[in-house]
Amino acid sequence: MNRFAILFSGRGSNLEAILQHWSRPEENPDTRLSTPVLALSNRPDAQGLERARAAGLPAKVIDHKSFAHREAFEGAMIEALDEVEAEWIVCAGFMRVLTPSFLKRYEGRVLNTHPSLLPAFPGINAPEQAIAAGVTVSGCTVHFVDDGVDTGPIIAQGVVPVRPGDDGQVLGDRIRAVEHDLYPRAIARVLSGQVHREGRSVEVKGPPLGRS
Ligand code: GRF
Repeated sequence: MNRFAILFSGRGSNLEAILQHWSRPEENPDTRLSTPVLALSNRPDAQGLERARAAGLPAKVIDHKSFAHREAFEGAMIEALDEVEAEWIVCAGFMRVLTPSFLKRYEGRVLNTHPSLLPAFPGINAPEQAIAAGVTVSGCTVHFVDDGVDTGPIIAQGVVPVRPGDDGQVLGDRIRAVEHDLYPRAIARVLSGQVHREGRSVEVKGPPLGRS
């Protein structure tokens, strides 16, 4: 059984979508080989804390501001992750960059979703970046996390239109609706051993995950 923790910093709508997906094993048989064990926030005011607790998942805050160095913050996170024996890390709106040494500890076992069609528009404010660039489609990218910012091997992408008059908020909401469907299914596929990665090349077994 693969035990995973969800790392987040704010609203937690993806966290909630993941927990809902795992609460329906009959419909989502891929989820039977893994289990969420902890919701971990670096912000005490994160709305996702309430969502996790409402879904019955233990939720913990490790405030990065209480630590002098990133390594000390990550050390505290690893301690909390070890306590619940979490060996997989699912980032869902987690707004801290993870250091190479943290990533080494969980090598190949850290996932993220980003609100653009990577490699376009990495980093913050991706929907705003897409609108400023004048693209007509955008979406989300589920990927393995590597040492760069939003540069890891791509597992699945979902596409949405960018409509005239969209602002970052409207486009971000449209992308999130697709993430809520795609990210949980992609996580379950990875954690049930159906995704093979070699370098940057990722093979997803079974029906295609992405929708366009
Ligand atoms: C998502 O759009 C995700 O792509 C990005 O941060 C946002 C988090 O939203 N990394 P939420 O906290 O899950 O609602």
